Amino acid sequence: MKINWPLMDNNIIKDDMDVLIDFLKETPRLTQSEQVAAFEEEWSKWLGVKYSVFVNSGASANFITMHTLRASGIVGKVIVPTLTWISDIASVLSAGFDPIFVDINPKTLGMDTNQIITKLDEQIRVVFLTHVQGFNAISNWTLLGILNEKNVTLIEDCCESYGATFNGYKIGTFGLISNFSFYYAHHMSTIEGGMICTDNQGIYNIVRMLRSHGMSREARPDADIRIDLEEMYRDSLTPDFIFGYPSFNFRNTEIGAVIGRNQLKRLDENNAKRIHNFDTFLNCIDSSKYRTDFVVEGNCNYAFPLILKEPDVAFRERLEITMRDADVEFRRGSSGGGNQLRQPYLSNINWNPKDYPNVEHIHFFGYYIGNYPILTDDRIMELCKFLNSVE
Ligand SMILES: Cc1ncc(COP(=O)(O)O)c(C=O)c1O
Repeated sequence: MKINWPLMDNNIIKDDMDVLIDFLKETPRLTQSEQVAAFEEEWSKWLGVKYSVFVNSGASANFITMHTLRASGIVGKVIVPTLTWISDIASVLSAGFDPIFVDINPKTLGMDTNQIITKLDEQIRVVFLTHVQGFNAISNWTLLGILNEKNVTLIEDCCESYGATFNGYKIGTFGLISNFSFYYAHHMSTIEGGMICTDNQGIYNIVRMLRSHGMSREARPDADIRIDLEEMYRDSLTPDFIFGYPSFNFRNTEIGAVIGRNQLKRLDENNAKRIHNFDTFLNCIDSSKYRTDFVVEGNCNYAFPLILKEPDVAFRERLEITMRDADVEFRRGSSGGGNQLRQPYLSNINWNPKDYPNVEHIHFFGYYIGNYPILTDDRIMELCKFLNSVE
């Protein structure tokens, strides 16, 4: 029996291509320009922040964010999740911070709030939270209050969860900086792409510089950093080429922005559909075999979490074979392949699996499968019936 269920479907549609083709017929210049600026402004309005910077990927957004903190003078340790994407950890390492890992809360797949609070000490300067696969990872106001009190900076990775809310406010508006990805598998797509958002003008100007080789002229003309650098190097450098930070080129193009602007128009409608699909999935999937006890308040998932209730290796093997045979695409380990501590790039870190039981379960017995707007209730029920039939 074939179910034919790709991880993502129809995320860039014909209408996006029609709009793009019209644009291409008229516009010879395709490097970052007016469309990028317009997309940034519209995205800021949608999210409810002052500033947004469009870049070429979510990973670039992570990288620039951590290097911006470093450029702002922050030194120390960063609390990170075990369940996240590699770039969330690689960016921390490359900016010279030490990552401190915490286990996840199985009901939100985000970092366990109590563990974050327990691990806070004077060396921890940043908490880099990931909202995993449409779940909101901020479980209460207590954490936000404590971080504020201790002057610890909160950064949000919303690459997998935009549209999700905490207490009615969009995630991505709580941290000093938030990151988004427009890779094809996510809530919307600009082919490749990412966004960095903030309300802080100083941060915004550093992010703009880091996006483009660290050049001071990328900061706004009235930015202190630009004025100071131009003044300081007045006799030795032309203002066109002052490289304030050692960076790279992370810019996106007008093509991505045109697609992004068109996609943004239907994001809320698509997300409402995803939320409905998710409810249908949770209602139909067998809770004696799979976990259904998630915190769903404010969720906006582009994926269905398929997490075995019990750590049953034989059942897992049968499930994988059955899904493969039926062309149900899946990813084991959920976000980023599961527990990052198991990855070779972190092999120099000593850790004990007993300290991370929740992410370990997801790593070995958790999957995600696709949730996209074109799905119907009948199709979701068919999928659940199929998954429930695995013995
Ligand atoms: C949580 C998270 N952060 C960052 C990224 C990187 O985004 P991109 O693939 O656009 O580089 C991803 C990728 O899927 C992700 O899931």
